[in-house]
Amino acid sequence: MGDRLKDRVAIVTGAGRGIGRGEALLLAAEGAAVVINDFGGSAAGEGGEKSPADEVVEEIKAAGGKAAANYGNIADYSTGEALVQQAVDTFGRLDIVINNAGILRDRMVFNMAEDEWDSVLAVHLKGHFNLTRAACVVFRQQRSGVIVNTSSESGLGNMGQANYSAAKEGIIGLTRTVARDMGKYGVRCNAIRPRAGTRLVISDQMRAAAEREGSGGMQLKGLEMFEKTNPPEAVAPMVVWLCTDEAAHVNGRDFLVGGNHIALYSLPEQIASIKTDSTWDLDTVAKLAPEELTKDLTNQFLPKEA
Ligand SMILES: NC(=O)c1ccc[n+]([C@@H]2O[C@H](COP(=O)([O-])OP(=O)(O)OC[C@H]3O[C@@H](n4cnc5c(N)ncnc54)[C@H](O)[C@@H]3O)[C@@H](O)[C@H]2O)c1
Repeated sequence: MGDRLKDRVAIVTGAGRGIGRGEALLLAAEGAAVVINDFGGSAAGEGGEKSPADEVVEEIKAAGGKAAANYGNIADYSTGEALVQQAVDTFGRLDIVINNAGILRDRMVFNMAEDEWDSVLAVHLKGHFNLTRAACVVFRQQRSGVIVNTSSESGLGNMGQANYSAAKEGIIGLTRTVARDMGKYGVRCNAIRPRAGTRLVISDQMRAAAEREGSGGMQLKGLEMFEKTNPPEAVAPMVVWLCTDEAAHVNGRDFLVGGNHIALYSLPEQIASIKTDSTWDLDTVAKLAPEELTKDLTNQFLPKEA
C-alpha cells in the first residue's frame, strides 16, 4: 500500500464494477477512505442489487483499507447530497470525487425513444452534476478538493449513441466550467475518456455476434485482444494521480486513458474564419463560406462509392 492519499476521503460513483471498481481499489491502496456508490443494475440501467458495492467494500477492508457502501441511484439529485453527507459522517471529511457511474442505451437517432435519451442523460450528465454540486459546497468551504469526471471518446461522435455522446461531451463542458467556478477556491476538475474491456463496451450480444459472424474467429479475437490489453484497472493510475497534489497544475483538462496509452486533448480551436465589413447577410455568407471557410471540407459520412 502507498500513502499518496493518506487521510483523504473519496467518493466513487459506479464503483461496484469495471473502471470505477479499479479506481476505488487504487484510491484505497494509496490510503484514502472510499465511499463506494453503486446501484448494481444492468448495463442498460435496469434492476439493482447491493452485492457489487458490498463486494468492493469487503475487498478494500480485507486489504486493510477503509470503505463504506452506498446503493443510491446517482441520477437522483438527493443521492449527490446523501453521498457527501455519508462521506463526512463516516470518515469526517471529503477530498475527492470520481464521477464514473454510467449506462448505455444505444439506438440510431431516428429510432431512439424519449426514455432512452432521458435515462442516459440522467445517469451521466445529471449524475455528474448531482454529486459535483453537493461536493462543491464542502470543497468551497474547505478551500480544497479534486473532481475527476468520466467522459468518452464517443463524445467526439459515434454512430447509434446520440444520447451517450451528447451526455459525454456535455460532461467535458461541465468539467471546463466547474474548473473555472472552483479554481479560485483551490479545487480542480478534470475529465478522462477511458478505454476498458468492460461489459459496457463488450456486451454479451456483441460477443455472441462475434462468435457467430467472425471470419475464422477474427472478430472474437479482436474483442478478446481489446479486453486483454485494456483491463479496467489500467485506467485507475492516471485518475488517482490526478487526485494527488502532484497534479496541482492540471485543471479543466481532458485525457484519453486506457491500456498502455494516455493522451492529453487540445481545447477546440478555430481552424478557419471569414469576416465581413458589416454584419452577415446570406449572399455574403454564400459567397465567402465556400471560397474561404469550407473549401477543404467533404461530407465524410456519405456511403462510400462501390
Ligand atoms: N469501458 C470503456 O471502454 C468506456 C469508454 C468510455 C467511457 N466509459 C465510461 O466509464 C464509466 C464506467 O464504465 P464501465 O465501462 O466501467 O462500465 P460498468 O458497467 O462495468 O460499470 C459501471 C457501474 O456503474 C454503475 N451504475 C450505473 N448507473 C448507475 C447509477 N445511476 N447510480 C449508481 N451506479 C450506477 C453500474 O451498476 C456499474 O457497476 C461510464 O461512465 C462509461 O460511460 C467507459
